[in-house]
Formats: sequence, C-alpha cells, structure tokens
Amino acid sequence: MERIAVYPGSFDPVTNGHIDIIERGLNLFDKIIVAILYNPAKKSMFSVEERKKMLKESLANFDNVEVDSFSGLLVDYARMRNAKAILRGMRAVSDFEYEFQLALMNRRLDKKIQTVFLITGLRWIFISSSIIKDAAKFGGNIDGLVPETVKLHLHKKFRQEAE
Ligand code: PNS
Repeated sequence: MERIAVYPGSFDPVTNGHIDIIERGLNLFDKIIVAILYNPAKKSMFSVEERKKMLKESLANFDNVEVDSFSGLLVDYARMRNAKAILRGMRAVSDFEYEFQLALMNRRLDKKIQTVFLITGLRWIFISSSIIKDAAKFGGNIDGLVPETVKLHLHKKFRQEAE
C-alpha cells in the first residue's frame, strides 16, 4: 500500500524551509500531497492560485509530490486522499504549543491519522513566510531563503503595491 502524507499549510508563500521538509518527508513517504488551506477568513498576500503556481514551480524537480488546495477539516481531506499521515515541520520550541494542539485535535477527530513532525535544517530554523514577506516589503535581501519564483512574485507584488 502506498504511504501517502498530506503536508498542509498556508504557504503564503512557500519558503526553502517548506521545501526542506518536503525533501525530508520523501524519505519516509511514497507520496506527499502539499495541501494549501483555502481560508477566505484569513488575509493572505497571495491567492490560492498564485500559491499553487509558486509551489508547483518550486517542486518541479520532485517526483511523487502533488500540489492541491482544500477547505474544511484537514482530517476529512486527508481521509478523502487516502493519506494516513499529516506532515508538519517544526522549527523552534515556539512552534510546539500550537502544533501540539493541532495534532491532538486532529487525532481526536480521526484517530487513524497520525501527525508526523520533521525538524527543518538548521539553515531554515529562523525563517517563516511572514518574516520573508516583511523583509521583502522593505527591500531586504531574501536571496537563498525562498525559491527563485517566490522571490520574483514577491518583488512583483511589492512593485504593484508601490504603483
Ligand atoms: O501554515 P499554517 O497556517 O500554520 O497551517 C495551518 C493548517 C492549514 C495546517 C491548519 O489551520 C488547518 O489544518 N486548518 C484546516 C481546519 C482544521 O482541520 N483545523 C484543525 C482542527 S480544528
């Protein structure tokens, strides 16, 4: 049986930290479904379509990775996709409390689906989508922290905003 994991998130936008988790996850799973949460209540910089495009371009060289979006409960989506695991990345202790809550709630909602945490490479321990957006907004150098396509999209977005 194929071991499938769902890697859910906002990915607004994808960073090299996310890519690192996917790469590590591929050592454990036959297939990873990167699932962007469609959440109209949450203000995001990029539309789901833009986020999907950036993810697809960044993951073009990876086999066995699919990019999709979902709304509603994550466990329902995972079940629908035949995934037995939810993959999440962990950076620092500050991530722990939220991740712990999320994992336990998901387990309560479906005890057959396990959450698997992977630790990002040390190089990515300090980056997040929000910190990247902040740095890019004020002209900070984000080279090497996000895939090239994301860098271009961010620059385009801030140029548009400035016009
Ligand atoms: O990248 P993020 O924003 O930390 O990802 C959070 C995400 C998408 C994993 C989480 O908000 C989620 O799964 N939302 C869908 C609704 C759900 O199932 N919530 C958990 C149980 S109430």
